[in-house]
Formats: sequence, structure tokens, C-alpha cells
Amino acid sequence: MADLSVKYLGLDLKTPLIAASSGLTDNIDNLKRFEKHGAGAVVLKSLFEEEIRIEKEAALSKMGSSGFIYPETMEFYDYNDAADQESTFRYLDLVAEAKKKIHIPVIPSINCVTAEQWTDFPKQLQDAGADAIELNIFIIPSDLKRTKEDNEKVYFDIIKEVKRQVTIPVSLKISFYFSDLAIMMKKLSESGIAGLVMFNRFYSPDFDIDTMEVTAASVLSSPGDFSQSLRWISIMRDHVSCDLASSGGVHDGNTLIKMILAGANAVQIASAFYKNGIDYGDEIISSLQDWMKKNKYKNIDEFRSLMSQHQTNNPAVFQRVQFMKYFRGHK
Ligand SMILES: Cc1cc2nc3c(=O)[nH]c(=O)nc-3n(C[C@H](O)[C@H](O)[C@H](O)COP(=O)(O)O)c2cc1C
Repeated sequence: MADLSVKYLGLDLKTPLIAASSGLTDNIDNLKRFEKHGAGAVVLKSLFEEEIRIEKEAALSKMGSSGFIYPETMEFYDYNDAADQESTFRYLDLVAEAKKKIHIPVIPSINCVTAEQWTDFPKQLQDAGADAIELNIFIIPSDLKRTKEDNEKVYFDIIKEVKRQVTIPVSLKISFYFSDLAIMMKKLSESGIAGLVMFNRFYSPDFDIDTMEVTAASVLSSPGDFSQSLRWISIMRDHVSCDLASSGGVHDGNTLIKMILAGANAVQIASAFYKNGIDYGDEIISSLQDWMKKNKYKNIDEFRSLMSQHQTNNPAVFQRVQFMKYFRGHK
């Protein structure tokens, strides 16, 4: 059997497969199952900044301008202050309990858009035993009064504040909504974070044209959705000074292998587990094992980044967006 172990954020993972933050990673039973079925680490369902804040009024007024992501966010409107506190206690309990019950790294996640008020929470997560913290920051750049500099500054403010508090590794899950995506990712990788997760998936609006209501587009990704992450991991692999994890559209072992070839240190998966169940991890891991055996790779390092932009025989293809030849031939 090939050695599937990898280092991610300085942590030892028995496989590169990570159960991404989602509703599936919010309870001990599922976390145990992820461990049993091949996950090398788990990222817990995010606690939202609003849940951490005690001053709910301030939080709600900020939400209007910050464009939130998952439907769960809406639950906050029903929370009272006591419930806010309760959810943070519950979350800390989940971290502590997970550390007792499973043996793979446990990475809590915070969904945040400001560096204010909530930022003593990372220290509490560290004290509860967290192996690392993933920050899920997403600011939709739609506010015409905020410049790109205003929006970008928030990321660095949050990282600085969190890093001030904790010694455990901090990773950052980002979107691709930056006007200078490559420059921003490079700068972020030099800001003290241990890893970049590319990319987060948003709650996206859709319209019902019969009822004229705004509805939610599919929450789950499809197998074709992996290319954004593949492209950017390949492009950035040789330019960033931190680990990279892919997130988005990995639905099978082959796509996980592609992400590692592009340069990913680890691969996060959510939707495929919703669609196929948590034990689907076994199938992904055995595809990886089979492929490594077939290609005579003994460990993951032997093939990681072999297809990063710099290493491929056709680097220009990653930057090409207008496939003239391709579209002409596509009848
Ligand atoms: C139902 C659902 C809930 C999610 N909740 C969170 C969350 O709380 N925090 C977070 O950072 N990402 C969350 N995500 C995003 C996933 O972690 C992942 O980044 C995204 O779904 C892309 O990966 P996938 O294509 O494998 O699903 C959620 C995804 C789904 C499908």
C-alpha cells in the first residue's frame, strides 16, 4: 500500500482528504465516520461571527452591507443574546469532545467579515484543543462606497487579530472575488497564515419566474465545478509561501488526484459526501491508492505539483480564457 500521509498546516494527516466545513461536520457521530472512512482531518461547520458577538444589534446592522453566504446565516435573526452565547459554548464543547473521540486533526471554522468583537474566540478554540483554525472570510465587493483597498484590508485585519491570539496554525478560505486575485493570494500567503483554501462556495440567488420570488440556487456543487480551484492552485503553487487546499467540485478520486498534481497539499470535500454518504470516502481513497499503485508512486510527495503551471509542458493554457480554437471546433 502506498503511503498517503501528507503535511497540511504543519499537521500530520493520514490522507490528503479533508471533510470540508458543512452541516455534516457539526456532530461527533459524523466526525467519527469521516475518520473511519478515510478523512485525514475534519473542518467543523463554521460558527458565524454573528453567533460569537454578544452585541446583536451591531451585528445585524453590519450584515446589511456584507453579503452573507449560507442559508444558516439567516438563523441568526431568531437568536437572542443568550442563544448567541450558548452557540459558542456548544461549539467549544464540540471541539473538546471531538478531540477526545477522534484521532485526526480537528479544525474549527469561523465565518467572519470583520475583525471586531468576536476575535477573542480563537483563543478559546485553541484552549479547547483545536489543532488549527480555518477562517472563512467573504466580503462580496458590491458596496459602491467601499474601495478594493477597504475590502482587502479587512482580510489582513482579521488575520492579524487572530494571529495575535493563537499559536496554532490559521488557514484562510477565500473567494475569487478579488480584482487582483493572484497578487492578493500571494500577499495573504505572506501574512502569517499557514494555508489558503480555494475557494468557498456561496449561497447564490436564483429566481422563481412563476412566483416572482428570489430563491436559492443549488447549494451543492457538481462534478464540473472543480476547474476554478484546479486552475488557481496550478497557477499559484509556485508563488505562495503557504499550503494550499482545494475546495470546490471534487466529487471523485480522480479529481482529488488532479488537485494534488496541481499542487494542493490537501483536498476538501463537502457536496460529494452529501450526495453519496460519508462512507464514500473509502471509494475516493481506494481510487487514489489504485492510481498510485498503477503509476508506481510510493508517496504523495512524488507526484504533488507535477502539473503546477510551472511544471506543465503548456503553462499558457492556465491563463487562456478565450479558447478561440476550442469554441470554433465545438459544434
Ligand atoms: C450544505 C453546505 C454547508 C456548508 N457550510 C459551510 C460552512 O459552514 N462554512 C464553510 O466555510 N463552508 C461551508 N460550506 C462550503 C464547503 O465547505 C465547501 O467549501 C464547498 O461546498 C465547496 O466544496 P464542494 O464542492 O466539495 O461542496 C458548506 C457547503 C455546503 C454544501
